[in-house]
Amino acid sequence: MSFTPPSPDCPLCPRLADFRAENRIKFPGRHNAPVPSFGALDSEFLVVGLAPGLKGANFSGRPFTGDYAGELLYGTLLKYGFARGSYQARADDGLELINCRITNAVRCVPPQNKPEPLEIKTCGGFLKKEIAAMPRLRVILSLGLISHKAVLAAFGQKASAHIFGHGAVHEMGGVTLVDSYHCSRYNTQTKRLTAGMFENVFEVIKEKINQNDN
Ligand code: URA
Repeated sequence: MSFTPPSPDCPLCPRLADFRAENRIKFPGRHNAPVPSFGALDSEFLVVGLAPGLKGANFSGRPFTGDYAGELLYGTLLKYGFARGSYQARADDGLELINCRITNAVRCVPPQNKPEPLEIKTCGGFLKKEIAAMPRLRVILSLGLISHKAVLAAFGQKASAHIFGHGAVHEMGGVTLVDSYHCSRYNTQTKRLTAGMFENVFEVIKEKINQNDN
């Protein structure tokens, strides 16, 4: 099954389209468009972030790339064998994902890094189709509550049946959703999320993927 991502000029969220138009003027030559997912559709593992950072993924055109949050995410993916190469915060750094794909709940950069509920719902249509186009998908890592809710919506699950929590594991008909606090600068600098806490979540994910291999 294939997946059609939003077009570079996707008009579905007027506020985000206006912000994109402003950013194209302010920062010409940068990506300034919905950020395409990174990694193969036939992966067993999907990471779902929040939204591209203004001068990170929105500039580089690759999720988390150039964003502060990318340092911990890509470092941990490399450590757990879900990536090879070296992460250099550029889309042309040659980093490759292994059995892993990365996307965002909202694919366009939102003002102040805060998408509105309708934008999350609208962009969620792409997430739902993308998940449906991943035939081998076994584990989803949600980074933060917005991602968690977007994934539940994609599966038609009630939020009340699956409470977000760091390290919480939710079974959803053949796919396991694992939650983590977002690896944002704020969360890591305040120690709400430490590298060790993030690695604990990856231990659970690795075990789930290995179980499914047997
Ligand atoms: N960059 C992304 O692409 N997603 C996030 O959630 C944060 C930074």
